[in-house]
Amino acid sequence: MARSLSMSLACVMLAFSVAVVMVGSVESSRFDELFQPRWAMDHFTYEGELLKMKLDNYSGAGFSSKSKYLFGKVNIQIKLVEGDSAGTVTAFYMSSDGAYHNEFDFEFLGNTTGEPYLVQTNVYVNGVGNREQRLNLWFDPTKDFHSYSIFWNQRQVVFLVDGTPIRVHSNLEHRGIPFPKDQAMGVFSSIWNADDWATQGGRVKTNWTNAPFVATYTGFEIDACECPVTVADADNARRCSSGGQKRYWWDEPTMAELSVHQSHQLKWVRAKHLVYDYCTDTARFPVIPVECEHHRH
Ligand SMILES: *[C@@H]1O[C@H](CO)[C@@H](O)[C@H](O)[C@H]1NC(C)=O
Ligand SMILES: *[C@@H]1O[C@H](CO)[C@@H](O)[C@H](O)[C@H]1NC(C)=O
Ligand SMILES: *[C@@H]1O[C@H](CO)[C@@H](O)[C@H](O)[C@H]1NC(C)=O
Repeated sequence: MARSLSMSLACVMLAFSVAVVMVGSVESSRFDELFQPRWAMDHFTYEGELLKMKLDNYSGAGFSSKSKYLFGKVNIQIKLVEGDSAGTVTAFYMSSDGAYHNEFDFEFLGNTTGEPYLVQTNVYVNGVGNREQRLNLWFDPTKDFHSYSIFWNQRQVVFLVDGTPIRVHSNLEHRGIPFPKDQAMGVFSSIWNADDWATQGGRVKTNWTNAPFVATYTGFEIDACECPVTVADADNARRCSSGGQKRYWWDEPTMAELSVHQSHQLKWVRAKHLVYDYCTDTARFPVIPVECEHHRH
């Protein structure tokens, strides 16, 4: 009796939260509903649910979302360039426009056959980046699809790999540190030649004999507040915030910070897989950036 009561309560709550989730958010898993090629159309091929984007000695390629978004979650599954990918960079990121733009980056730095990829993340706020972190992965990202996601609300930006948080950028506005929460952002991915810096500091050059270099994508998902380009940033910020009857799932109290389980996952990633953190690079930043003193690791 008590059990069925709590079951039906759970159903009511589920139904309620589903209704709430739908407010102003979009969700899809098809490339062409959400995205479009941005440059080098002839470097794209479609194979059913798979999208392939290639880099050759003629050009790289890139795609972007058709809309912009404020808060929510973006997820893409990628199978990175196989074999000798040295010199290549595949990026998945969100960015707003202009000189004072915000940006959340995943950059996958290729390597010679058998050597590990590096994943570089970065956060730009009001046009200023220089917040690189680098880690290696706990799997070979060229053998299978893995999901890479960016979760974003007014409290934090979380980078996730297969659902495991690898980085959190927290809102520290109460310490006077700006947080990206006013500009709608597009979602982008690209592949290009970066052999002047990407692999082993630029020592290993792209070997064009192995071209084309192909990154394969699937599982495109955006569950976020969509912002029409015709609407001003300030109005979008209001529209995409919970208030009154309107509740967005990313504003739920449980989304304000990592769960205990996620915090443990993040600790594990940092202990086992982090190879570079701008916060500990005293050669580059003799004075440690203020946010680093506050960011929970
Ligand atoms: C690009 O690569 C192709 C195939 O390896 C080669 O035939 C062509 O000459 C190259 N072009 C340039 C501009 O290097
Ligand atoms: C490539 O492999 C080397 C040797 O294992 C490693 O030091 C480096 O971090 C790897 N990644 C890149 C992008 O250079
Ligand atoms: C480039 O790749 C080809 C084919 O895999 C290989 O034979 C050649 O040695 C490579 N060149 C360099 C400079 O590593």
